[in-house]
Formats: sequence, structure tokens, C-alpha cells
Amino acid sequence: MATTKAELGDSIRERVRCALKQQPQPTVTVLSSLLAVQDAIHYLPDEAIEETAGFCKASVNEVWSVASFYTNFRFTPPGAHVIEVCWGPSCHLAGAQGVLAAVQQELNLFREGETDDRRATLRYNTCLGACALAPVISIDHHLKGRITAGDAKDLAGGLLVD
Ligand code: FES
Repeated sequence: MATTKAELGDSIRERVRCALKQQPQPTVTVLSSLLAVQDAIHYLPDEAIEETAGFCKASVNEVWSVASFYTNFRFTPPGAHVIEVCWGPSCHLAGAQGVLAAVQQELNLFREGETDDRRATLRYNTCLGACALAPVISIDHHLKGRITAGDAKDLAGGLLVD
């Protein structure tokens, strides 16, 4: 039996509530709550904004103003895998443009976002924190350093088939 939209919404709300309650730090804010929810479910659906408002005793507009201010929050579900290509200064000097072009070609995706089949999300990053290993990409938060365009192409292609 297929899951209804209402059931899916209830399931998301339950996961959001759990993430909100499990924040370990003594001071809980709207921002910390949104970060906890995004860590747990990887994006902020409408249910997350509403539940965060209730939890923090804030209005939906107040929560939305915080969520929309920070570019790292996303409001649609990510793809099954996330590949980030660093184009910061060190990576740029070490050949990031070729790496990025190879990934874009392989995913047939020439902007940040999801592939049509939602197998992969492509994101750009201004520094993945491993400049000594430039050029660097990240796949599902695992860094790959001194990457070549060929390696990047193979890794990106692997995301589409597993
Ligand atoms: S600039 Fe790419 S890891 Fe720092």
C-alpha cells in the first residue's frame, strides 16, 4: 500500500520533533534548531519550519527569516548522493576547473542542484578545508584529495548507478 502525503508529512514531523528535542546544548535557538533538523533529515520542509516555530515559541515568519538568510539551508530533499566540488583558491590553482567540468559532464548537470533522476546533488564549495590536498571534492561528506578530472568523472558516474 502506498504512503499517503499526509502519512509522509506525519513521519517527517515525527523526525523533526525528535531532532528538536535531542539538541544536546543548553541554549537552544531557532538557528540551532534548524541546524539540528537539517542534520537529521538533510533539508527543511514546511513541516520543519512549523515545528521549529512551535518548539522555539517563535512565529513561522521569524523561523522562515532565519532559515532563508543562510545559504546552507535547503528546502527541497537532496539527491541520494551529494558531490561537492571545491573551487576555492587552492583548488582553482590546482585544476579545479577541469575537475568541475568533468563532474558536470558526467552528471549532465551544469549548475548546483539535483540530477533529473535525483541520484546525485551537485554543490560548489569555496573551501572544503583540505587545501594541501587540492584539488578536492567531497562525496557524501568523504573528502577525496589530489583528484584528477578522470577520477572525478569516474566517481561522479558511479553515483548514478549504485
Ligand atoms: S580551497 Fe579547496 S580545499 Fe581549500
